[in-house]
Amino acid sequence: MKKYLLSSIILLFSFIHCLAEEGMLIPSLISAFESDMKAKGMKLSAKDIYDVNNSSLKDAIMHFGGGCTAELVSGTGLLLTNHHCGYSQVQSHSSLEHDYLKNGFWAKNHAEELKNPGLTASRMVRIDDVTASVFFGVNPSDNPLERENTMKKNIEQLIKDAIMGTHYVAEIKPFNYGNDYYIIVKEVFKDVRLVGTPPNSIGKFGGDTDNWVWPRHTGDFSVFRIYAGVDNKPAEFSDKNVPYTPLHFLPISFKDRKVGDFTMVYGFPGETEQHVSSAYLKFIVDKERPARILMRQKSLSVIDAAMRSSDEIRIKYSAKQASIANAYKKWIGQVDGLKQLDGVSIKIAREKEYTDMAETNETWKKSYGQSVALMNKLVSEGSEWEFKYAMGVEYLSVGPEFFKLVKGVDELIKNFEKYQENGTLDSIIKKSIDGAHGFFKNYDANVDKGIFDLLTVEYVKQVNSETVTTACGDIESLSNSIYSKSVLTNEIRFTEFLKKLNKKSISKVKKDPGYKLFNILIQDFREQVVPNYLAFDDQMTALLKNYVAGKYEMFPNAKHWSDANGTLRITYGKMEGSAPTDGMTYTEHTTLDGIIVKNNTGNADFELLPRMLELHKNKDYGDYAQDGELWVCFTGSNHTTGGNSGSPVIDENGNLMGLNFDRTWESTMSDYMFDANRCRNVVVDIRYVMWVMDKYSGAKHLVDEMVLVKE
Ligand code: ARG
Ligand code: GLU
Repeated sequence: MKKYLLSSIILLFSFIHCLAEEGMLIPSLISAFESDMKAKGMKLSAKDIYDVNNSSLKDAIMHFGGGCTAELVSGTGLLLTNHHCGYSQVQSHSSLEHDYLKNGFWAKNHAEELKNPGLTASRMVRIDDVTASVFFGVNPSDNPLERENTMKKNIEQLIKDAIMGTHYVAEIKPFNYGNDYYIIVKEVFKDVRLVGTPPNSIGKFGGDTDNWVWPRHTGDFSVFRIYAGVDNKPAEFSDKNVPYTPLHFLPISFKDRKVGDFTMVYGFPGETEQHVSSAYLKFIVDKERPARILMRQKSLSVIDAAMRSSDEIRIKYSAKQASIANAYKKWIGQVDGLKQLDGVSIKIAREKEYTDMAETNETWKKSYGQSVALMNKLVSEGSEWEFKYAMGVEYLSVGPEFFKLVKGVDELIKNFEKYQENGTLDSIIKKSIDGAHGFFKNYDANVDKGIFDLLTVEYVKQVNSETVTTACGDIESLSNSIYSKSVLTNEIRFTEFLKKLNKKSISKVKKDPGYKLFNILIQDFREQVVPNYLAFDDQMTALLKNYVAGKYEMFPNAKHWSDANGTLRITYGKMEGSAPTDGMTYTEHTTLDGIIVKNNTGNADFELLPRMLELHKNKDYGDYAQDGELWVCFTGSNHTTGGNSGSPVIDENGNLMGLNFDRTWESTMSDYMFDANRCRNVVVDIRYVMWVMDKYSGAKHLVDEMVLVKE
């Protein structure tokens, strides 16, 4: 009887964790999944996907600007990513005269491609498990400091050895909360130029109305090019640089698609938290997310109204608005999904299986019997600090924008005498004035005041700290004084202050209402909140490390994967629709006809430029259509998250089917819990991307640079 019970427990646990589509796999370990991938239709070998000695698919995948993914699609360094990933670059090149947001931009030749200082694209050279080397010389009897020192030394040495004699950079990252360590060696390209972007009416079609939602019709792509030195190695920006010749680039999949086709997403997912405890998940769903959602709802109410009222403000705030709105909407979907599925109860059931399993054996009982209870206890003791930390992030770094200028002012004040002595003061002041100009170019004091007024009230209420309440005092009069007097809220006042910087103005700025407020708040945050939050987080990480080790040890047959951490991963599934809620089915693809239908609703998020209507009327789809339809987007059962934006969706032969850019509303909970029935990634079909370049934008020369595969 006992034996039977035991095996049914294993079955239940492995069933929950063995859904084919769940998981973000480490490329160097992909051979373990080769046979399953082949059974699902893949015709490639594991070595085609990841190989250190020969070029492989991985060499076409780039980490774009650190936050998104991009892929090489031509022998001359042409790079595709999402429109929303290149958005801040497009925005920075836009002005009322050159409104690339509204009208799009296409370089007609290499000389017209626009440079983007600071933008990088990195290729992963290799990833290796270095756990044993990182722990080398660490003894069980070491105290935490000794342990940390030994590990630090090992890590430094491993990195040094890995890049010796090369132009590469390397980092070592913990996986599975520090149960494992991997070294990642990279090649970082620093000259990445903008080649083209469709207008917002294509690249951001559907705007916030459609963001995170299916059915979807967004042409979410933009085009860049990597430049390298004449030796084809990364180089700082220079007019002498030449287009990069990649080790591998993705051919374009031009064949008809059908439901069930194999799909693989190769990219840089940012963060998932599959292992958090039930009490923690409850804290997220009931407390942390709702408060953050409310903060963002308040700033968006101000920004959205202002953007509707003026084109100038629309251009200034479009990138900032998109970023605030994006997480805001995702979190709403996440909370909804986790509630509908009763994620907390699912976690409780899994935790029970875990603890029951630990009870079956003395060693396990000692190591893992208390694991779950300890995690849940820690949440009740310390999650308050994570909450305050989150509120601090929402207010101090996503809230009123003038806060951002304080750091620069502090630096100037601190080093004033040094700069004066070494004669660099004038040039540093000039640099600060230029920097401030960049800031104020996208700033509107009325909008910022609106945000300040609403968020300050909320912050005072949520963090419930005497220092904060006293510092904010009478919020209305504080706000009036900040926005009429502070040097931080007006470019002329700020420039005057910088130009006349001297001892007297320094002592005066210390009384500036904006400067004073931020310094009190940030000090309270740094001294009260951050240390407590970090202590909570460290303790939780240690508990999770143990909990996860127990999963691997007690359930060896379950499918295990380490949470996303910004490193290159593979996830595979198929092109398919979903049935996320009772009585509702989503089909797997959308077409240009659907764009026109949405446009007819009159919602401003579905505005089109006349050219689209014209091309649609003439059904001018060229070779890009399938059965007379121009596909725009499709969904797949691939496990993705933020950072996977721009990732290639690759077919069974290694060709590019489309660009990943989103998940459906019902899927956003997959960062905590993947549900194979509802979780779908959203992809813009590469044939639509080509059509927009060729037919819509007259940039056929770019399509001609790529290799189209019809079979
Ligand atoms: N939801 C997608 C992602 O997380 C796209 C965001 C850009 N679009 C927007 N309307 N804000 O990044
Ligand atoms: N749009 C997201 C990104 O920027 C991808 C969507 C998701 O979170 O799955 O990475």
